[in-house]
Amino acid sequence: MQADQDQPALRHVLVSGGAGFIGSAFARNFVRDHPEARVTVLDKLTYAGNTQNLAPVWDEPRFRFVQADICDYDAVAPLVVEADTVVNFAAESHVDRSIMDPDVFVRTNVLGVNTLLRAARDGWKAGGYAGKRFLQVSTDEVYGHVGEGATAEDAPLAPRNPYSASKAGAELMVFSYGTNFGLPVVVTRGENTIGPYQYPEKATPLFITNAIEDKPLPIYGQGRAVRHYVYVDDHAAAIDLVLRRGAPGEAYNIGNDVEVNTVRLAETILDLLGKPRSLMQLVPDRPGHDYRYNLDYRKTLALGWQPQYADFEKTIGATVAWYRDNQDWWRTIKAGEYQEYYKKQYAVLAGA
Ligand code: NAD
Ligand code: DAU
Repeated sequence: MQADQDQPALRHVLVSGGAGFIGSAFARNFVRDHPEARVTVLDKLTYAGNTQNLAPVWDEPRFRFVQADICDYDAVAPLVVEADTVVNFAAESHVDRSIMDPDVFVRTNVLGVNTLLRAARDGWKAGGYAGKRFLQVSTDEVYGHVGEGATAEDAPLAPRNPYSASKAGAELMVFSYGTNFGLPVVVTRGENTIGPYQYPEKATPLFITNAIEDKPLPIYGQGRAVRHYVYVDDHAAAIDLVLRRGAPGEAYNIGNDVEVNTVRLAETILDLLGKPRSLMQLVPDRPGHDYRYNLDYRKTLALGWQPQYADFEKTIGATVAWYRDNQDWWRTIKAGEYQEYYKKQYAVLAGA
């Protein structure tokens, strides 16, 4: 029986960037929640990729890992053809690194996405696009700084840093493959996500691990920038849902309603770990800092998304507990390449 054009078959899902933070959560949960499906993770294993993040599913017969670069057409094309669904998490993902060196962001986030799209368009064409899906994981940062109110999916894209500009470029390529070639594409735009296995360059794992090590927590500017913190399993569940129920050609916001500024984030972490607030240290602001994002995510709720961590205290509590209980994971990372980046980014900090 041929699959309905509007329903992805989900027999074999290719998860690109699946050794990173959110992609690995999606892959672990997808293997658990879809016992009939095969999952291939494709990942270049940049500094941010880590096969340990996939340990819970590594020995599962329906799971496979392939090391490859999404910019390498010859490597990715056979993997795409075997699958009926691509969920693309692969990206350079850290805003501060994009300000230091934008080039690799354009390469992976724009050219790499185009390579994956081309592989899907050409590889799936002979069998038709029915039952196929290409889901691009994007970010609320594509809307740019939002002074007041909330952005729904039809708001204009106005990215302001090299990371978000490259992610917006990727989205435009994705939608263009839907419009011009009929590829069934869908995009999710998530808010700031936290939880287990997040590389400790991002504010939350950086603050938690520094606090455990009694090191300063670097707060940009006056620490008044606000974010909404979504638990990683909620983000992964929303992507799974959009994959199954989202309409091709559409974007879906993934967020929550709790605004938290950087000082509150740092104070909550210090309190949970019983560390002094004197560990907070103001440092020069991020250039072009987006002080606020705020998503209207009712379209995703309407699909049936039911986040389990709508409460910030629960979200940060679970996150702090994981880093406290899994110190081998992040201490190994912090002993490596990380140190060079940290010294460069936080030169103003004593002991950086
Ligand atoms: P991450 O940096 O933890 O993981 C990215 C993964 O992509 C790594 O495993 C890395 O090895 C891989 N990768 C990088 N370049 C690659 C290439 N050229 N070929 C193949 N693999 C490559 O990122 P994350 O935080 O898990 O984010 C995943 C996706 O979600 C990204 O697209 C990001 O833009 C988006 N997103 C992240 C957040 C967040 O708060 N972390 C929020 C919304 C959206
Ligand atoms: O909003 C979604 C985005 O969230 C994702 O698309 C990105 O991939 C992800 O990295 C994240 O971007 P942010 O820039 O919001 O996250 P970050 O953890 O870097 O910063 C969160 C806030 O904390 C932000 O206002 C900057 C501030 N900050 C960050 C760092 C690293 C500090 O004050 N000090 C720091 O050292």
